[in-house]
Amino acid sequence: MHRRQFLRAAAMATAASALISRGGAASQADAFIEIMADETLGEISPLLYGQFTEHIGGVIYDGVWVGERSKIRNYHGLRAELVDHLKKIHVPIVRWPGGCFADSYNWRDGVGPLSKRPRHANFWEVDPDAQRLREQGPQIFEPNEFGTDEFVRFCQLTGAEPYLAANVRSLPALEFDNWVEYCNSPANSTSLADLRAEGGSRDPFKVRWWGVGNESWGCGGNFLPEDYATEFRRYSTWIPSFGVDLQLVGSGPNDNDLDWTHRFFEQIFSSTHPYDNRHFKGWSVHHYAARREQALRFEDSSWYQVLKECDYVEQIIEDQWSVMGQYDKEHRVRLVVDEYGPWYVEGTELDPTHIFGQQVTVRDALATALTLDTFNRHPEKVCMGTNAQLVNNINALFLCHEDKFLATPNYSVFEMYAGHQGGQALRADFSAPSIHYNYEGKSSTMWGLNGSASRKGNLVTVTAVNTDVHSPKLTRVKLRGKTIQQVTGTALFAADMHAHNTFENPTTVQSTPLRADLSGGEVNVTVPAGSVVKLELTVG
Ligand code: AHR
Repeated sequence: MHRRQFLRAAAMATAASALISRGGAASQADAFIEIMADETLGEISPLLYGQFTEHIGGVIYDGVWVGERSKIRNYHGLRAELVDHLKKIHVPIVRWPGGCFADSYNWRDGVGPLSKRPRHANFWEVDPDAQRLREQGPQIFEPNEFGTDEFVRFCQLTGAEPYLAANVRSLPALEFDNWVEYCNSPANSTSLADLRAEGGSRDPFKVRWWGVGNESWGCGGNFLPEDYATEFRRYSTWIPSFGVDLQLVGSGPNDNDLDWTHRFFEQIFSSTHPYDNRHFKGWSVHHYAARREQALRFEDSSWYQVLKECDYVEQIIEDQWSVMGQYDKEHRVRLVVDEYGPWYVEGTELDPTHIFGQQVTVRDALATALTLDTFNRHPEKVCMGTNAQLVNNINALFLCHEDKFLATPNYSVFEMYAGHQGGQALRADFSAPSIHYNYEGKSSTMWGLNGSASRKGNLVTVTAVNTDVHSPKLTRVKLRGKTIQQVTGTALFAADMHAHNTFENPTTVQSTPLRADLSGGEVNVTVPAGSVVKLELTVG
């Protein structure tokens, strides 16, 4: 939505709380949603709904991988409940093996017979959160039981595309080529294809998406942007393709570091020796709302502050896009937000081995939803998003330990939003009074209602977040250019803003049907306080 329109509409709503007519009787509206059915912003790539998995804490071992001999229900060693849930939300892509882990990972350690795979110190072994671990399990010493074959099988079972992050910090460029060759060379064509076949996969994996390093400004090598650009050229020139249209993702800025993007793009596009690689398709961005508090300990002000910090992703997208366009004039490279979410301090992990594990409250669900809405509003700029991380980690969709498993409120958000995948994003205006709050002695403001809309045939999907933790919003929804014939609503909210799911009570927070009334061609709906809502409009 255009900021100015939003502010104007919000001001109008504050001033008047205008009267709306419902079945002849007059009632107050606190908020407005206006959708332009014929004004499309572009296709919402399904890849915006991806997930990220890293060899850290309980993500892979305990989370994704339980082993073939486990009593826990599994498919070839992969946690079956996780696979089944991911299929339901149509997970489009999964990123692996890191994160910071990627730049210390030798893909060769994770292929070939299990009995011959070496053990190595895990990258995260030095992290302060790992210090609490008394047992020296796979979180400290990587057993490589889960490697490329297991990851690709996980993707195949869930229906996701694999997105691999190559090691630029500590492996030579030839090993990147070799990994591509292992994954993509045709059956019987190369020795690495034979090795893949020995592991049970005769046919090539056809992996399209490859990250060229991770956080190369930090754990991925501590490069200067110009130096990373030189490495990027070296690692991405003449990678064997085997008929696969490779999509390469450069390691973009920490948060909204514009200097990193300026200097990298200048070196690549505008130097005396420009680098024209048609496979360079993505520029990765990581945006965490890093907190000094635990996931379950917060007041109203922190509720809003977390949402505001997550909402900053929109500014990042706009700023980065504008800098990229100064060099990449045709915008051939698009943004890949491949790590995002609120990140709290340790203390709510469900098992000590879950480094960076944290509980997920209804507040986090709102943070995730507003991030997905932001992606939906910028389909021409953002081509992929992967939430950090899938399970037992920062902004997880699932928490599990041994045979216990639960879906967090974030899972419900991905379930509610799945209908946007592949839809045409529609221009839409959302307006409601802003929230004014005081955080650490400073006054601040957060929007009250925002969201996104998309259309597939005669179905318009509208999703929105009401950040107001205390007040529901009586909301009037108008569709311009088409007639609403039917409406159904869904909402995710909780009476307690700290509400979350536990092994004992795994469904405390989950989506439920929401009453929405169609009258006079418009929809009137009460959007609950502190909620994520979805309206599905059948249109004619
Ligand atoms: O998601 C956890 C870590 O956060 C990732 O490994 C790294 O890329 C980021 O700093």
